[in-house]
Amino acid sequence: MSPNSSSIAIYPGSFDPITNGHLDVVRRAADVFDDVIVAVATGTSDPRKDRALFSPEERVAMIEETLAEAGVHAHADTFSGLLVDYCERRGARVIIRGLRAVSDFEYEFQMALANRQLAPDIETLFLMTSAEHLYLSSSIVKEIARLGGEISALVPPPVEARLKEKFSRSAAG
Ligand code: PNS
Repeated sequence: MSPNSSSIAIYPGSFDPITNGHLDVVRRAADVFDDVIVAVATGTSDPRKDRALFSPEERVAMIEETLAEAGVHAHADTFSGLLVDYCERRGARVIIRGLRAVSDFEYEFQMALANRQLAPDIETLFLMTSAEHLYLSSSIVKEIARLGGEISALVPPPVEARLKEKFSRSAAG
C-alpha cells in the first residue's frame, strides 16, 4: 500500500442478519481503517447455508440503520462474484473477518488462503469479537427469534424489529 493511499477495508459476509457480534467487529475495524465497507455477498451458493431469510436489500438497509444508530463510521454495500474482484474494484487491500471460537478457524483459514492464492496483494485480517459475543451467529439468532425467544441482547434494535415483523407475519400466514 502506498503511504498516501487511504486505508479501505472490506468486511464481507452474509449478514443474514447483522448481529451485535458483527457490529462489534465493524466498530473495531472502523477504529483502525479510514473507510470500512460492510459488504453483503449476494448469489453465493454455499451448501452449508440455509436459504437467506432477508433479501440483500433488506440486509443492507438493516446494516445502514444499525451503523447510523450506533454512530459507527462505516457503510454498507452488496457484491456478487469473487470477493477479491470486489476488493480490487473498491481499491481495498484488506479483508476483515471476525473470529469467535476455534471452530471458525478451519473455514476461515481455507477462505483466507483461497483469497491469497487469487490475489496475493490482498491481506485478510482477523479481529476477535468480544467475549460476550463468542457464541453468537446469525443462524442462532434466527432460530431464537423463530421460536419466540428474547433477542434484544443479541441484535441491534433495527434488526430486532425486522425479525419480529418477519416471524409474526409468518406465524399469522
Ligand atoms: O458470513 P459468511 O457467510 O461466512 O461469509 C462468507 C463470504 C460471503 C465472505 C464468502 O462466501 C465469500 O467471500 N463469497 C464470495 C465468493 C468468493 O470470493 N469465494 C472465494 C473465496 S472463499
